[in-house]
Amino acid sequence: ASTVEDVIGAFGRNEPVLVHDAADREGETDLIYPAGAVTADAVAQMRNDAGGLVCVALSDPVCETFDLPFAQDIIDHPVSSNLDLAYDDRSSFSLTVNHRDTYTGITDDDRSLTIRKLADAATVGEEFDFATEFHAPGHVHLLRAAPNLLSDRQGHTEFGLALADAAGQPPAVVVCEMLDDETGAARSPTSARAYAQHHDLAFIEGRDLIDRLG
Ligand code: 5RP
Ligand code: CA
Ligand code: ZN
Ligand code: ZN
Repeated sequence: ASTVEDVIGAFGRNEPVLVHDAADREGETDLIYPAGAVTADAVAQMRNDAGGLVCVALSDPVCETFDLPFAQDIIDHPVSSNLDLAYDDRSSFSLTVNHRDTYTGITDDDRSLTIRKLADAATVGEEFDFATEFHAPGHVHLLRAAPNLLSDRQGHTEFGLALADAAGQPPAVVVCEMLDDETGAARSPTSARAYAQHHDLAFIEGRDLIDRLG
């Protein structure tokens, strides 16, 4: 098994890591990358090996800088008020975006470009012209993290950004759920651990990150 130090070290070297949140929350293991390290091959790994939704989580200050709202606050439709999650107080979904230099936005090249540009935005801050560089809606889901990360919320959104912070990476990370190819359910922690071992990646329980970084 990996230690928290292993996971932080790997993340600092631009390697992806696996984080299982908790059996009594989503019970999901996400493959998490520093956004700046996401190549087209990394997007292919997320859709082929992970299989969940490819999302970029940004810190609360970055979202504040670029005026990125929670989706549930801006969707002007009756279903929006029904956004009740079984496993948490609220969803971290924000807008969906594409970078302006993408074509359809969905290819591995296009999504990786959008993702790396989001890392640039998070690194540069207010000098970055977000509204010119991106358009919405697009093919990459943005997630907005809680202001105090793990002390406020214990989702993959916050696990990823707490790791970025500890590893000296910019506050932009990609998360994607590991699904089971046979059943379509969440991949079990045991199976996700085996994947990590096979691919020489670090795997950690959310609890261990909360104890060390919360
Ligand atoms: C978006 C999700 C994922 O579970 C992702 O990990 C972000 O959510 P959270 O922060 O609630 O874990 O549902 O695909
Ligand atoms: Ca697959
Ligand atoms: Zn999650
Ligand atoms: Zn999920």
